[in-house]
Amino acid sequence: MAANDAQLTRTLSNGTEIPLVGLGVWQVQDGPECERAVEWALEEGYRLIDTAQAYGNESSVGRAIRNSGVPREEIFLTTKFYPGGRDPHAEAEKSLERLGTDYLDLYLIHWPQGGPTWAWPGMEQASEAGLTKGIGISNFSAGEIQELLKVSQIQPAVNQIQFSPFEYRAGLVEACEEAGIVAQAYSPLGTGRHLGDPVVDRIASAAGRTPAQVLIRWAMQKGLSVIPKSTHRERIQENFGVFDFELDDDSIAALDALDTTRQTSEALSRDGKWWS
Ligand SMILES: NC(=O)c1ccc[n+]([C@@H]2O[C@H](COP(=O)([O-])OP(=O)(O)OC[C@H]3O[C@@H](n4cnc5c(N)ncnc54)[C@H](OP(=O)(O)O)[C@@H]3O)[C@@H](O)[C@H]2O)c1
Repeated sequence: MAANDAQLTRTLSNGTEIPLVGLGVWQVQDGPECERAVEWALEEGYRLIDTAQAYGNESSVGRAIRNSGVPREEIFLTTKFYPGGRDPHAEAEKSLERLGTDYLDLYLIHWPQGGPTWAWPGMEQASEAGLTKGIGISNFSAGEIQELLKVSQIQPAVNQIQFSPFEYRAGLVEACEEAGIVAQAYSPLGTGRHLGDPVVDRIASAAGRTPAQVLIRWAMQKGLSVIPKSTHRERIQENFGVFDFELDDDSIAALDALDTTRQTSEALSRDGKWWS
């Protein structure tokens, strides 16, 4: 992977380019907190913003994008269909209104509530109507991907999954790659839990980097797009400082060994799914 290139991307099956690092805004309050985080990220050079209908902050994300002065077409904007709803196409229109933009770059089914296939025709309609450039999934296991592929006309471009050295779903990432789906890592810092781990800390010290940078870089070197969240300017900046170094093979192996999922092809660690 080339160093010093903050605009590294992966090409999706629909031909669009997804940046390797973006800002996630789960649990960021709608209003100034969210607007500031997104504006700081865009100032720093981030070009991928990840929100969701369920996060309740699409309006702030949209305002921040408009206020940033960064042209809309330079930004990769993702939102997610809340699967407690019934109609992905109609809900995409409402998202666009809240976001104040006329297209999404990526629209994901947030989780496979009610099964992996029922919402897909509505996602395809949203795509065909030009509401979004790409459609995809989140929290889908390898088995659920296979079920979806049997019925899909348009194939999912992305599967956004929980992924970190501790949740190293190697089987799932492999299944995504085989299906031409780019995997994207959510909760790359374990929602903050993994930042104090001694192995991560040791590798960070040896590399002259921070634990957050090591965790983000590990996921990038696994080929995933990564979406760390922060509402602090200095952390937003820190989390983007991952393009000018590389983890060596020993460091990667030590991080791989932290896996608690046994390289699973499942999307979730717990037996129960939080939506069922
Ligand atoms: N598809 C899904 O079902 C799903 C599920 C979960 C998450 N996601 C997406 O993935 C994004 C990231 O996941 P996440 O929100 O769970 O958490 P995360 O990115 O793994 O970690 C965020 C936490 O770490 C802290 N943090 C961030 N950078 C730091 C740094 N450099 N140093 C110290 N602390 C730092 C943040 O605190 P501060 O904010 O206070 O700085 C926050 O508490 C979400 O925002 C969302 O967009 C998707």
